[in-house]
Amino acid sequence: MSVTLVPSLPTRSGTTPAPAPSRPLDVLGVPGEINLDYAASAPCARAAADAVAELLPWYASVHRGAGALSRRCTLAYERARQTVGDFFGARADDHVIFTRNTTDALNLLARAVPAGTTVVTFAGEHHANLLPWPRGSVRLPVPTDPAGAVRALAAALTELRRDSNAALPVLVAVTGASNVTGERWPVAELARVAHRHGARIVLDAAQLAPHAPVDLLALDVDYLAVSGHKLYAPFGAGVLVGRADWLDAAPPYLAGGGATSHVGPATHDVTWATGPARHEGGTPNLLGAVALAAVCAALAGADRAALAAGEQALLARLRTGIAALPHVVELRTFGPDTPRVGIVSFVVAGRDSAEVAARLAADHRIGVRDGLFCAHPLARRLLTEAAGRTGRRDLPPTALRASVGLGSTPAQVDRLLAALATLG
Ligand SMILES: Cc1ncc(COP(=O)(O)O)c(C=O)c1O
Repeated sequence: MSVTLVPSLPTRSGTTPAPAPSRPLDVLGVPGEINLDYAASAPCARAAADAVAELLPWYASVHRGAGALSRRCTLAYERARQTVGDFFGARADDHVIFTRNTTDALNLLARAVPAGTTVVTFAGEHHANLLPWPRGSVRLPVPTDPAGAVRALAAALTELRRDSNAALPVLVAVTGASNVTGERWPVAELARVAHRHGARIVLDAAQLAPHAPVDLLALDVDYLAVSGHKLYAPFGAGVLVGRADWLDAAPPYLAGGGATSHVGPATHDVTWATGPARHEGGTPNLLGAVALAAVCAALAGADRAALAAGEQALLARLRTGIAALPHVVELRTFGPDTPRVGIVSFVVAGRDSAEVAARLAADHRIGVRDGLFCAHPLARRLLTEAAGRTGRRDLPPTALRASVGLGSTPAQVDRLLAALATLG
């Protein structure tokens, strides 16, 4: 997988080299800039850029016009829905609803759960999967290993069912991979436990989907939320996929044009649409949906095992390099050998993380993330754990995060490690 440098640079002789043939999963980039912050927003895949460029001349309204352009755009939007749904293994009667991002998708679901639903999460979630849920939700402590997560969920659901009306809905909300540590969570096992207790489960796949196949049917999860901009499709679309009944029974997430099937003269004389349109009020984000679908199609046709193997080799290089630096400490929730995606968080002892990130950018043109990564409860806990594990008293109160994906190279990882070595 290569990075396409934008713009193409003239050669020393002054001529512009013939561009290498581009492939759909090449990613765009800027010469000299090392992007190790894929977990925040991944670079744009060629497939997404090409799909948008091809459609732009035709750009017109979706579901709102009779002209040829509008009809083509409507078709492109609905085809995108089909492609994205197929890519994530949507069941025939699932809804595929385009949203702005994962946060939007989970907020939509939070508004759609039936009254009285108890939502069960773990404290290790991203804020997007902690904060939208209704009052009375249960937040389980961060477990020390994946098996502990399964046991804790089983115990919590047993207790919940004992204490409350067994008919009341319960929704379990879990991440597929942590945005702080990259560690993978045992989604299929958690889904089995949820269903055994008559609960539903939603998967926050924001960090898992860019790195591994995610299939609703295979994992047996009820809902899935994803962000296009983390999946190499930076045109502002995300998606919520899942069971239709709660979504069709809920008030529209966005009331307005497109979400109705009838509006009469009286103030409240309105019949809301069913299906995805109910929650997609307003003119939809055509280019975002088409870009996301283009990446899904490209990934569906790719050798994902080979892509994953390449990423795991980079991740191993990064983690081994960090482990060899005595002043750098990796953060982790589970054991060091837990399967994970290409994300590593760490601290430089005795150094402020924001200052380190700024120096990496200014002195080395390396982009990483610093802070608590919109997962404050987890990040704070892991910083405390790291201090306990290492016995160091000079760890900073926030962390750094490096993340890799399509187009990342060993040389980029080595540049980061070399830069970190100078901070010792
Ligand atoms: C695990 C996880 N869930 C949800 C989100 C929210 O994604 P977005 O900001 O695209 O809504 C993020 C973003 O970093 C994330 O890492």
